[in-house]
This record gives sequence, C-alpha cells and structure tokens, in this order.
Amino acid sequence: MVTHVIYGGDYNPEQWTPEVWEEDARLMQEAGVNRVSLGIFAWVKMEPAPGQYDFTWLDQVIDLLHAHGVQVNLATPTASPPPWLIRLHPEILPVTADGVTLWHGSRRHYCPHSRAYREYASRLVTALAEHYQNHPAISLWHIDNEYSCHENGCFCDASVEAFRQWLQKRHGTLENLNKAWGTAFWSQTYTDWQEIQAPKRTPAFINPSQKLDWERFCSDSWIDCFEDQKVILRRTTPNIPITTNFMNFHRSLDYWKLAAAENIVSLDCYPDTSLPDWRVESGMGWDMMRSLGGGRPWLLMEQAPTHVNWRQRNTTKRPGIMRLGSYQALAHGSDGIMFFQWRASVAGAEKFHSAMLPHVGTDSRVWREITSLGGELQKLDEVLSSRVQAETAILFDWENWWALEGQAKVSNDIRLLPQVKAIYTELFQRNISVDFAHPESDLSRYRLVIAPHVYLVSERSAKNIDQYVAQGGTLLMTFFSGIVDDNDHVRAGHMPVPFSNLLGLWIEEFVAYAEAQTNVVEAANGQGYPCELWSDIIRLTGAEVLGHYREDYFAGSPAITRHRYGKGTSYYLGTELARDGLAWLLDQACAEAGVRPVLEAPPGVEVTSRSNGTHTWLFVLNHSDVEAWVKLPAPATDLISGSRVESLMQLGARQVAILRLS
Ligand code: GAL
Repeated sequence: MVTHVIYGGDYNPEQWTPEVWEEDARLMQEAGVNRVSLGIFAWVKMEPAPGQYDFTWLDQVIDLLHAHGVQVNLATPTASPPPWLIRLHPEILPVTADGVTLWHGSRRHYCPHSRAYREYASRLVTALAEHYQNHPAISLWHIDNEYSCHENGCFCDASVEAFRQWLQKRHGTLENLNKAWGTAFWSQTYTDWQEIQAPKRTPAFINPSQKLDWERFCSDSWIDCFEDQKVILRRTTPNIPITTNFMNFHRSLDYWKLAAAENIVSLDCYPDTSLPDWRVESGMGWDMMRSLGGGRPWLLMEQAPTHVNWRQRNTTKRPGIMRLGSYQALAHGSDGIMFFQWRASVAGAEKFHSAMLPHVGTDSRVWREITSLGGELQKLDEVLSSRVQAETAILFDWENWWALEGQAKVSNDIRLLPQVKAIYTELFQRNISVDFAHPESDLSRYRLVIAPHVYLVSERSAKNIDQYVAQGGTLLMTFFSGIVDDNDHVRAGHMPVPFSNLLGLWIEEFVAYAEAQTNVVEAANGQGYPCELWSDIIRLTGAEVLGHYREDYFAGSPAITRHRYGKGTSYYLGTELARDGLAWLLDQACAEAGVRPVLEAPPGVEVTSRSNGTHTWLFVLNHSDVEAWVKLPAPATDLISGSRVESLMQLGARQVAILRLS
C-alpha cells in the first residue's frame, strides 16, 4: 500500500562514481523523488564473474537512497546477460526466423528457452533476493525489463524442441494436433513430433493454425521466464509486490495472462507528442493498464521527461506537456509517475535520451518542470488507491489480434488497433470512460460493450457475449467478427455463426474494397456517411436497418443494423465508416445504453473521475491551446492550488485541475 504518489525514475548508478551518487541522492530529494527503479541492466556489475556476486556497491547506493527518503523498485537485471555468459554459453543468443543469430553488444539478446540462461538468471535472482530480503527500502520487485521488446520469438533448436513440448501439452496427441492445424491441407500431416518445426521462413504462406500456436507459445515462454523469477522472489520475500513493465498495446505478449501473474501492472509509455492525437493514444494505454489489473491502480513506470532517442526525429515535449501527460496517467488510475531516466547517460546507446536531470544540469527548463511536478504531487496523496469507474468496455484479446492479422485474408488491411483507436477516440472526445475487457470476462457491469473485429472467438467468449446481450446489455460489433474458432478454423454457415441469432442477421458475402474504392452509407438520420475497406452483404433475420449502402451491386442492402435480443440490444456495423459516421453510430449506441460522459466539457478538455467510496475527484485537463470554462456539477476544492472552485471553473491552456467534489 503506497502512502505517497510515487515519483521518480530508472536510476543507473552503475554508470557513475560514488561522488555522483551523493549528488544524485541530494537532487532527488530536491525534486521530490521518492522512488527509483534500480539495477535494471546491472547484471555484470552484480555478477562480474560466474557465481561471484557483488552487491557491496548496491548496498551503498540503496542505503544512501533510503537515507534520503527514496524507496526502491529493485530490478532483476536479467534483460541483458553479460558478455562472459555469452562466451560460456553462446547458445543463449536468440535466432531469427531466417536463422540469423542476434549478438550481444545491445540488450535482450537471450532465448527464453535457453537452459543456461534460465539457470544463471535464477541463481542471480536468488542471491539478490536473499541479500535484500530484509532491506526496508525495497518496495517493489521489477522483474527483467519489457519482456519480448525487440525480439519476436526465438527459432533456435532449443526453442523448436520447447515448442514441440508445449504442443504436446496443448494437443495431447499428434492426431489432435493434425486436426487442430488442418494439416490435410498441402500435405502437412505430421507422423512424428520431431517433424514439427517453428514457423521459420517458408516459400509460401505458413499454416495459420501453426502460426497462431507459435504466437501463444512465444507469449507463454516469456511468462514462464517471469514465473521462474516470481517463484524465487515469492519464496524469499513474500510481502514485496512484484511487477514487470509493459509496453502499451504490445503485440507479441498476452498481457491478460501476464498481468494476472503480477501484483501491480506497470507501463512504459512514450507517446510522440508532436502528433495531435498523442493524448488519445496515451489514454488508450492507460485504460488498458487499469483494465489489465482488474481496475486496481497501476503505475506509470517509464515515460520520457522530454525527448526519446529512438525515433527518426526526437521532438521535445513542449513546456507543460510532460506535466499534462503525467496528470493524464493519474487521471486514468495510476498511483505514480516515473521516468526513464533519472540522470542522462554520457555513454552508450541512450546517451541522447532525455532524463529528469539533463546533461546541462539543474539550470534548465526540464529540471524546473521536474521539480515543480514533484512538489505538486505531494498534495495529491488523498487520491491514492481510488478507482476509475467505466460503464463502457471495448473487448480486446491478444489471440484474436494474432489470428486476425495473420496472412492470406480476404482483405489484409483489416487491422485491430486502428479500429480500436477510431472507436476509442470518439469515446475519449466525449469524456466517456472506457475499460478494456477480455471477451471471456464478466461483462455484466457494463452498459455498453463494443466488439471491434472479434474475428477469433472461443465457445466461451461466444456464449459470454450472447448472454451479456440476452441479459440486457447493449453491444456494438464491427465486421469480420465471429469468423473462426480458437484453432483459426472457419465457423462455416450463416456468419457470423456464433452471433447471427444475437445480431438478427447473417452475412452472405464479404466484399473487400480496392485501395481507392469508397461507398456511402445512407443512415437513418438522412445523412450519407462515407465508408471504405469492406462491406458485408447482410441478410436480415430480425434486425432493423439503421443504414444501407448507396452504391455498387449491393446498393440498398444493410450496412448498419440494430436488433433487440432477449433483454438487450445489439448493433452491427458491416463496413469501415469514416469519422462522422462512426461518431453518429456511437451516439446511438451510447444513448441506447444510457452511457453518459463523466462531464460535458468544451472541446479539448478531458475529464475523468476517480473515487474511493467516500470521495470523488474530477481530473480536468485542458489539452487545448486556449483557456476553457468548465461547468462543474458541484463546488469543489482544487488539490493543486488548494483553492475552492465554484461551479464555473476557468482553466488555462494546458492546465490541470484535480477537484475534490464537495
Ligand atoms: C524503454 C526501456 C528503457 C529505455 C527506454 C527509452 O522501452 O524500458 O530501458 O530504453 O525505453 O525510451
């Protein structure tokens, strides 16, 4: 349980001398820093030679930090095995689908299936945990760093063998595997487990079911690595919570599964703030993190104080933007604000990445903004542990993402994230709070559930969605949903087979559009809304039409429908609507479901709320470049300024208010 809003960043004392550590501790105190993540890439410093552990330098750093009121997220430094380990065990290095070995000299150069790697990592973690088990400065374990960042599965021999074992567990017999993979196609039938390969480079399309199992396997392998370490840490330090840092909507790791294994979800978030919709993208990531943790507060583990160094052009966060983005994380349920990194490196691949303490030192805009935010956050302790309540959920499932974006579809331009983002953007702009939900999870608390491109559905999720509507929920489903089962086999018949009753329709034909092709949906409100990419040719079995196509051989046929089902209502969208059309449709669905904004506010003003049962706080963020007037539901106290605000509040450009409602 944290008692102060967490504030700080990644700290790499191994890059500095003890004199610098002293200065760091003093400046951290000045900046209001109360937490750092330590040791993330310090394997070789902790274990300079095989089995020789040296924590003396780290003891000194941690004691110093503790004396200055700074708590520690202690990292297991397993994301960057030292060169001596690669010399002893070159088989640790990962291999790509083309058979190319990825070398050390960078980071994350390890195969998750390497026995040597796993053994060395476990021994080091054991030594680290035993050494620090009673240190009062350790508040959180930070396992590894950004699992599966940079690599997309290892294809070495050990990985192929591990894949075979994983498949045996999943399918039991070769007969089942052949069935699940549909291997009658192209003479792929397996007669021995040893014949099975990873989806390495092939002449033509790889078997999609094989590929899907591979994605599941790779994701599970990272989770296994996490579990190895978690078991050790749990045993040694049962009371210290555990996390590993996530990367927003990261495709190759099923975050639902990994989040279920940690105590607190943490996120590294690096929006490109030169893009107008950065705040939407950030918001989407924040909401996903909160949802992954079942609504519990999460932690912003890393963000850039200003620029990163890994884009082609690394633009600065302009004055006020870092602060605004930080408050946005709190507004969406984080209990802390942390950065990569504390002090700017002078050597290595990240020496031009920004830091809380820049190369130029404390006489700088960045430092002033950092210290000023650190001071402000000290006034916000009362919001800790409070929660954001959302009445709307967007369904999101990694397995669906992998299957949907596999090869050889009717249109290979159906992409999950752009669709999710288009929907999320509309809700965000209306100040409607959104959760993400797994399709198999309990949906009963949501008034509105949106199912974008839920292409792969298990029996369980199909039933769950059906029941949700039957019992009174409102659903909006978009095209290419309910198409395959969890082996990526087509559910043939009146598509979408699992949802055709619930939607009151079936689809006779898929029409993929050519690149420049468009159409228009004539909507029930008399407007014509442009659409592109795709049309389902819909046959009605009970649904009513809310919009039909204007052009082409299917002109006049339904594009948008609504159906009363059980106690609920389902909407279906059979095409890709441009913005205005999507906005109109979402307005219909929200009105039907009774979903309301947290607060009506002028354009560019974001409002969220957090509450703890006793108090409710409104977070009001003016993202626009002009001052805004916001009408509040009741008089309130602004925690940052300490002043009382009456029902009409003035908020300057890029300013923030955190209001405790009376
Ligand atoms: C993160 C990573 C950090 C640092 C940062 C730079 O993805 O966890 O170690 O590399 O990016 O933006």
